[in-house]
Amino acid sequence: MERARAVIPHGIWGHNRFPASYTPGEYPYFTERGEGAHVWDVDGNRYIDYLCAFGAMINGYANPVVDEAARAQAARGDCFAQPAAVGVELAEYLCSKILGAEWCAFSKSGSDATWTAVMIARAFTRRSDVVCVRGAFHGSHGWCNGCNPGEGRAREDAHAVHAVEWNDANDLERIFQERGDRIACVVTTPFHHPIPGRAALPSADFVRAIREVTDRHGAIHVVDDVRAGFRLDLRGSHAYFGLEPDLICFSKALANTHPLACVVGTDKVRRAAESIFTSGTFWKSAAPMAAALANLEFLPENDGLRTMMSLGQRLVDGLVRLGQRHSVPLEMTGPVTMPTMTIAGDVDQAQMRRFAVAMAEQGSLVHPSHNWFVSAAHRPADIEQTLGHADVALASLAPGGAARARP
Ligand SMILES: Cc1ncc(COP(=O)(O)O)c(C=O)c1O
Repeated sequence: MERARAVIPHGIWGHNRFPASYTPGEYPYFTERGEGAHVWDVDGNRYIDYLCAFGAMINGYANPVVDEAARAQAARGDCFAQPAAVGVELAEYLCSKILGAEWCAFSKSGSDATWTAVMIARAFTRRSDVVCVRGAFHGSHGWCNGCNPGEGRAREDAHAVHAVEWNDANDLERIFQERGDRIACVVTTPFHHPIPGRAALPSADFVRAIREVTDRHGAIHVVDDVRAGFRLDLRGSHAYFGLEPDLICFSKALANTHPLACVVGTDKVRRAAESIFTSGTFWKSAAPMAAALANLEFLPENDGLRTMMSLGQRLVDGLVRLGQRHSVPLEMTGPVTMPTMTIAGDVDQAQMRRFAVAMAEQGSLVHPSHNWFVSAAHRPADIEQTLGHADVALASLAPGGAARARP
């Protein structure tokens, strides 16, 4: 870490200093390798991992099928000026599986995808304003300052971005009453997963209101499925909740840790997509596309979604029971495949941080203020072990409690 700090800001760049903000020994800093649902830190400790590369891992680290597909493409060359055929195959696959998708445009990161979607909506409507949900995370580009402010972005970057409250149809109606003729799009995640904070599923009212108000005012609805994509419904999380967006953004789990993102859309906005100026040197990189195709085919073949759902339920139920046993007022929110744990009264997440440290000490990696991820590579034995770790970790949260040393 000392060497890293000398050459990299904070020693670990990105994700709001996680895990660089931990003191040495509290939480592993660097990874040696991963396999399935497990990672090994550079000191040789093995962990059951619920960070899952912040959602990018869904079918296991070093998945042989996915990685072999990427290797086979890379052996023929990865990035060319003319795209490789696998991009067309992947786009066809996505259009056949994602509900409502009629075309697909690739890029590299979730931030690329959400920004691209905003540009397409602006081109389609010839309007500038964007409505998003207060506290929602859509990446770190300038426009995101309107919903999730951060240092280094100018206020002007988000001057046309307006935040409304999640699940508040009246607030949405209000902003459209005020400036409906200037609003290009409403950008939402399929469910609200702020960092930090409790997750919240969409109410039926809100789902209805988004489509109704955007249609009435000629605006576009963008669903940012970057984080939740493929963990709720293989047709896209909008299908799970009954949302009917015009544009949907994916990244993270799309290619099982290989860097890839895409925006898919309906025919209505195809010409607008063709009209925008956007580009990325590595957007045609073919190895991640081969990985994505193998990854998406692997999921249903192995009943991955059902595995994640049943293991996630087991994890959440077990944690709730342990919370009651230890009188820790913990709350599990959000879908069970990407649960968020919070503790009542833990305003600065100090208790959650102690919990995460105690869990790492035992051998399970969880995040103190971000939702966790369950993958199709986790096994019932992993969940049982993790619940054993949580039993010890929750006991340590009681006054005077201390985490047991790593066995
Ligand atoms: C919902 C959502 N949108 C967009 C992004 C940005 O993705 P990336 O970090 O790949 O730019 C994230 C990243 O966590 C996300 O969770």
